[in-house]
Amino acid sequence: MPRLSIADCEAIVRALDEHSTQGLHALRAAARLRQRLEQAYVSKATSASRPTRLPALHEPDGSTHRSCTLHVCTSCRAPGSPREPKVSRAGFQLYEQLRAAFQESPNGSNVEVRPAECLSVCPRPCGIALSLAGAWTYLFGDQHPGGSTRDIVDCVSHYLATADGFMPREQRPQSLRASILGRVPPLHGEL
Ligand code: FES
Repeated sequence: MPRLSIADCEAIVRALDEHSTQGLHALRAAARLRQRLEQAYVSKATSASRPTRLPALHEPDGSTHRSCTLHVCTSCRAPGSPREPKVSRAGFQLYEQLRAAFQESPNGSNVEVRPAECLSVCPRPCGIALSLAGAWTYLFGDQHPGGSTRDIVDCVSHYLATADGFMPREQRPQSLRASILGRVPPLHGEL
């Protein structure tokens, strides 16, 4: 790749911001380009006292172009709580609350909230998983209806604004720090 100045990186990102990208291949190509730009930008910005992450690709209303999936285990329940009815389980209630919360969020159209039967984190209810093509995948436990919803919405907004989905502990909301159970790098070739 030819050498890029900070101004080059910023100009290209502005151009990407101005032209909406449609279709999976276009989105992946934009993600690859963005990652290369970020690598070039970070090495230059560090010595020039610029922000060390490129701005996210945003729509005029503040939403982002990319879409992610938030799986919520609807089977999770607190130890000792009844199995039936299923709609009373903590996981099901969290799923319903998150669906409603994202409908009101500026990023709501970029987030698909999907029910999952079990995420295999049963001893740490409630379980959720966050994934996006070309980005890190996250698995969390210890989420609670009512208590976690706001933090999860904030975390997903941050996730969408990153270049590759990577979120260090200190950049995640409080309830999504110690509750992390794992994160998986993007598949080879996705970026
Ligand atoms: S029952 Fe929720 S992760 Fe297994």
